[in-house]
Amino acid sequence: MGKKNKLGRIEDVERFPNVIQYVDFEKEHELKGVWSTVEFANANPITLELACGKGEYSLGLAKKYPNRNFVGIDIKGPRLWVGAKQALDENIGNVRFLRAFIDHLENYFSTNEVEEIWIPFSDPYLKKARKRLTSPKFLDIYKSILKPGGVIHVKTDSKVLYEYSLKVINKENLKIIEKIDDVYHEAPEHELLTSIQTYYEKMHLKEGKTIHYVSFRLN
Ligand SMILES: C[S@@+](CC[C@H](N)C(=O)[O-])C[C@H]1O[C@@H](n2cnc3c(N)ncnc32)[C@H](O)[C@@H]1O
Repeated sequence: MGKKNKLGRIEDVERFPNVIQYVDFEKEHELKGVWSTVEFANANPITLELACGKGEYSLGLAKKYPNRNFVGIDIKGPRLWVGAKQALDENIGNVRFLRAFIDHLENYFSTNEVEEIWIPFSDPYLKKARKRLTSPKFLDIYKSILKPGGVIHVKTDSKVLYEYSLKVINKENLKIIEKIDDVYHEAPEHELLTSIQTYYEKMHLKEGKTIHYVSFRLN
């Protein structure tokens, strides 16, 4: 993988065919409601990876599930560049990267357009709970684009974010599918959780941190 500088990566991201950037994030994007027909040209279900950084989950899942589509979303172009470049180099056709604020997801996806959401190692925002990606405000946004029965996967090193997420799930009366307090000790054979590791996850593991996971349904 080339080690282009930040400016070079920003320029690349502008022209990469697998990266979509917001034009005006206050407005609805032209792909809203037509990701399947226009962007992917198939009816396969769509999974989002939020705060994807370099997009390890989008890439890993896209390779594992060629009959599904994946969109990695982050606001930082130079990070998205890493995943987008790898997808182009390896010719992985069922993944795209969207440079946008997660706060504006409703401008990019319409009702029932998304089947599943992964949120790996998002910022815990220790002092601002409302900014956490599992806060009620964000869950409402996800509800507006997820299909009925759609699943959300949260993987984190942050005990604060993990316990907060469990509290919100409980308070909102949502159905937990799987809850693993310590992934690598309790579920070392859980392939989806241990075979794909993100950049931040690798750093946390080196520091000996515990990795937590919970998946749940919004409706
Ligand atoms: C701690 S990093 C984790 C990146 C990646 N998931 C990983 O595990 O390596 C959090 C990422 O969330 C992105 N981010 C935070 N808030 C965001 C928002 N509201 N919209 C889009 N991206 C956001 C940041 O740009 C950053 O890349």
